[in-house]
Amino acid sequence: MALERTFGIIKPDAVKNGNTGEILTMIQKDGFRIVGMKMRRLSKHEAEAFYAVHKERPFYSGLVTFMTEGPVVVLALEREGAIAKWRELMGATNPANAAEGTIRKKFAENIERNSVHGSDAPETAAQEIPFFFSSSELL
Ligand code: RTP
Ligand code: MG
Repeated sequence: MALERTFGIIKPDAVKNGNTGEILTMIQKDGFRIVGMKMRRLSKHEAEAFYAVHKERPFYSGLVTFMTEGPVVVLALEREGAIAKWRELMGATNPANAAEGTIRKKFAENIERNSVHGSDAPETAAQEIPFFFSSSELL
């Protein structure tokens, strides 16, 4: 597997519930190197732009409201096969379907308040990392 970088967000539900530390521990124990990390509160404009792919979906406005309700932690993560491995560690979108040992199984409240985001393909990772990080912030 090639060394890759992917993008992640610890979403407002998980930050508010005090799960940031445990999620970061799970990420590091799974072999990721954290190459970028910061806490941010997303503006409405940023959340709308970030999730623009979903703008025709019925859940879009609720998703934007949720993603702006409190601080998030944005992450750039590196390891072999990072994109697929991060999706695997996150678990299914709906926590009811998430496998044991995944972040969403452990922490997600429901299909919307599901604790983490992850890039779903190399092209998305390549757009999402620079959306939040300048090259000098990737270490
Ligand atoms: P993400 O983009 O955040 O990593 O999540 P995902 O790929 O697993 O799921 P996606 O289909 O891209 O949906 C993006 C986020 O929208 C919220 N959602 N709500 N109420 C609903 O039916 C619904 N469906 C999706 C979730 O926060 C989901 O992660
Ligand atoms: Mg997605």
